[in-house]
Formats: sequence, C-alpha cells, structure tokens
Amino acid sequence: MQIYHANIVWSENRDKFAVRRDSYIAVENGIVEGIYGKLPEKYTGAPLTDYGNNVMIPAFSDLHVHAPQYPQRGLGMDLLLSDWLNTYTFPQEARCADPEYADAVYEAFLKSLIENGTFHACVYGTIHREATSGLLEKMEALNLRAYVGKVNMDIQSPEYLCETMEESLRETEIFLETYAGNQYAKPIITPRFAPTCSFELLKGLGRLGKKYQAGMQTHLVESRWEAAESVRLNPECSCDTQIYEKAGLLENGPVIAAHFIFPSDEDIRLLKKCSGYAVQCPDATVNVIAGIMQTASLADQGIRLALGSDIAGGHLPGIYTQASRSVQLSKLKAFYEPEANRAIPFENAFFMATKEGGALFGKVGSLEPGYEFDALVIRDFSDPFREIRPEETVERFCYTGNPADILAGFIHGKAVI
Ligand code: GUN
Ligand code: FE
Repeated sequence: MQIYHANIVWSENRDKFAVRRDSYIAVENGIVEGIYGKLPEKYTGAPLTDYGNNVMIPAFSDLHVHAPQYPQRGLGMDLLLSDWLNTYTFPQEARCADPEYADAVYEAFLKSLIENGTFHACVYGTIHREATSGLLEKMEALNLRAYVGKVNMDIQSPEYLCETMEESLRETEIFLETYAGNQYAKPIITPRFAPTCSFELLKGLGRLGKKYQAGMQTHLVESRWEAAESVRLNPECSCDTQIYEKAGLLENGPVIAAHFIFPSDEDIRLLKKCSGYAVQCPDATVNVIAGIMQTASLADQGIRLALGSDIAGGHLPGIYTQASRSVQLSKLKAFYEPEANRAIPFENAFFMATKEGGALFGKVGSLEPGYEFDALVIRDFSDPFREIRPEETVERFCYTGNPADILAGFIHGKAVI
C-alpha cells in the first residue's frame, strides 16, 4: 500500500472534471484503491508521499505516433503531405533497415515519450520487422501499454522503402505470431494508408487479422488528396473506410483511424459500426495536411475521439500540447464553418487525451478506484498574481507546460519520473 497526497483531477466524463482538492489516493499493487479527503484510520502508518498543492492527473495516451520519424521532428513543416512524405519521411524511415540505427532512435523516442507523461501509445514502426520488433520489446520491458505496428507498403512507394506483397504478409505474420501473447505492448496490423497498399495486400492482412485477432491502425481520410487517391485505386469502394471493411480489417480487434478529417457519411457509419477511434493530431493537420477535424460533430455522432502527436507530422511529443491545440482548432473550424461545427470546451480535449484515449488500453486514463495507477504530478501553476484552481493548473499546463513541469510519473504504481 502506498498513499499520495495532492490535488487530484481526472475526467468524470467528456464534459466534466472530477476534482478532489487536498486529498489522499491509496494505491495497492499498482491499482487505485480509493480517494479520501481525510486519511482513513486503517492507513495510519502506511508510506505517504506528500505533493502538497501540486496536481495529480492520469497519464496521457497518444493514439497516433511514428517512432522512426522522431529524428525529423520540426523539419519540412512547410511542405504538404505527399511532398513531405517523399522528401523527409520515406528517406528517414528507410534508415531503420539498420537495426542498430533504429535501436538508438527508438531509445531516444521512448525517453521523450515517458518524460512527456505519455504512458500508453499506438505506435508505427517501419516496414522493417527486426527494427520494429526491437521497438515493441523495449515498450513491453518498460510496461508501456501500447499497440505497435510493422508498417505495410507494397505499391506506389520508393524502391528503397517498398515490399512485395508476399514479403509484407510473411513478415507481418511473424510479427503478429511472435508477440500475440504480450501483456503490455501488443502487435497491431498497420497498413500505412491505401495509396501505398494494394487491395490484395489489404485482403491478406484481413486474413491475418482474423487468424491472430489483431486490430488495425492506419491513416484514414486524412487529406483530400489521400481520400481521392484511395478511391481512385479502389474504384469498387465508395470511400476510404470501405476499402478496409471489404478487406476484412474492421472486424478483428481495435480500429484506430488517424486524422479522419474529410469523412463522408459512409466513412462515419463504418467507423462507428466497428467502434473505431478517430484520432485527431492537431499539429500534424496544420503542418502537413491542411485540414481540421470536425471534433464536436463527430463526437455528437457517437465516434470515439482521442489525440495523437503524429510525430513527426506533428512537431511536439506531448499530448498535453495537442489537447490545447484541439481546442484552438475547434474554434477556427467553428469560425469558418459555423453551420456544422462548434468550439469544444477544454474538458472535452482533456477527456480525449486521458480517459477516452486510455480506454483503448484497458483500465487506464482515470484515477477512479479500480484504475491502474498510471499518473502524473504536475507542479502547481498558481502564481503571485492569482490563485489557480487545480483544474486550471491542468489547463495552464496543457497550454504552457513542458516536461520540467511534470514532477513525478507512475506506471502501474512504479515511479518512472
Ligand atoms: N500518411 C501516410 N504516411 C503518413 C505519415 O507518416 N504521417 C502522416 N501524418 N500521414 C501519413
Ligand atoms: Fe501519421
């Protein structure tokens, strides 16, 4: 048993914070046992860490991030998607053919993930199985809850970053089979996006998904170009999402759709039907995609929404930065297209960053009893000029914070920051 004292904040639901000021949280075997205003007598003498007026929140979940792109963050941000992929991203990912290089990149990536308080993530590797296995194994060893994917690309890709269909399926099957029994970092099928995957490959991946009960992550309707190109290559499909449905990829496990900026009604219907996540990556969409997700209206239609850093389409690793950016973008969207959109309150964005994103991985993303103690302690953001309520500290941290403001971090009860 371990007791912590702090101001404690989590998302009660999409629209509401739960705030327990000046409270005690009891943690047993890595699980939250209870939260108390006054420490119960049974806990007298139990080890207690006092964080005073600082604020404890759940750790963040990043549902879309590319580990091999960590070295290119903040570069090429003046390009649009296709040029950015060809000029920066594909050459960078090709370097992970060398497992030693990839290993060093993935060490640095994971250090950054943890120091930014992201303890659960959906991560893309590259087409290279060996390097991607190294990434997954590192995450498993760190007890990071994750879905990790070996990327598939067999058409319209540069020669130096392209597989044959047979090779892609063979390597993916070995990857799925090897890690199917993992407890923390699990394998997931990861077709890069429809423009670089033949339909035959996608159908083969659908068969593997069924065999290994593995879900899928991909980029979906992320730009007008991508949506049109996907349907051009698959003219028998009416929309991007239907390509994956017809390939049997929406029925085997979690479905994680990055971006989802230009969905048709049919895209929305299909994603909802499989209870898939639409992952907003706010910085990436302004950097390389040039579109804004209709967050409020998608949420109203019952789509599950979470946040992603999309390193390196996005330039900042912290999901807290994307929570504030999500609010900003919702205001722009509502300003320019007021008929179908409205600005979201900060509570909605924090919910996406913690409880809703965390739900993908199990009982994480909240601090209610029964949840895993995956938590952060943020420094009190009060200043000499005004009192700041605990939930305002959370908001100010998401707008102005950086890793130095995270005083402590716990994964399944174990201190990692
Ligand atoms: N679409 C296909 N590949 C990528 C990628 O690496 N990043 C982003 N943001 N979009 C993509
Ligand atoms: Fe991406």
